[in-house]
Amino acid sequence: MVQIKKESDPSEPRLYTLTRAASAAVSHLISFTFTLLIALLSRPGSSWFSWHPFLMTLAFGFFMTEAILLFSPHVSLVKKLPHKQKGRVHWILQCLCVTCAVLGLAAISYNKHLNGKAHFTSWHGLLGLLTVCAAGAQSLAAVPLIYTSLARGWSLAKFKRYHAASGLITYLLGSASLLLGLCSAWFTASVKDYIWYLAALCPALSALIVMNQVSTAYLAKKRLQS
Ligand code: HEM
Repeated sequence: MVQIKKESDPSEPRLYTLTRAASAAVSHLISFTFTLLIALLSRPGSSWFSWHPFLMTLAFGFFMTEAILLFSPHVSLVKKLPHKQKGRVHWILQCLCVTCAVLGLAAISYNKHLNGKAHFTSWHGLLGLLTVCAAGAQSLAAVPLIYTSLARGWSLAKFKRYHAASGLITYLLGSASLLLGLCSAWFTASVKDYIWYLAALCPALSALIVMNQVSTAYLAKKRLQS
């Protein structure tokens, strides 16, 4: 059962608070059911290809989504943890995301190699490659946030803002890659029209919710600083 945070801004209309809490709850549901749907359709392990949609959805649709949602003041699943601990869980989920993304990329590359097909020939393939590189770079660039001594001479607050902004861009890249993956011949042949639309709604809605969460947190911090 989702609990609405009592200590939300009292000047905020209640309907707005409720809508935000509902949308974040929907986001958990989406991250789980979307990953389950792709797992059921691809049947990981049935072929080299099958690992690709499964691992990529697990990486971006589940791990990365949950890694960001855990900072949501409304429906974070680890709301009670202190911020530092949340940072640790975030870091673990991001590591899992990058690991799955790299394995998913390896699976599709190997599958193409086995079938003698050319690499990175579609918009999905090109954007997907950029997404995996961005996710890797984002994780590496976050190391000074864990080992703060590495960020000496930098403003940590500024660093965190850059991390949030570039993280949002990486997430949007992931959502766009997922959407393009759903346009692939394999997926369109695997599902009926209405399932396709429902599936496409998943990364689109998650992207809107995450965008709202990150921009609201950023604006709130700006308001506090001014
Ligand atoms: C964020 C998630 C995803 C990323 C980063 C991604 C990345 C990639 C990359 C880089 C390739 C090209 C590999 C090569 O040419 O060697 C590729 C191919 C492919 N992906 Fe994905 N993928 C993602 C999600 C999905 C999903 C969810 C599906 C299916 C529902 C899918 C289906 C395919 C198919 C059918 C191909 C082979 C055809 C093509 O190259 O376009 N992908 N993907």
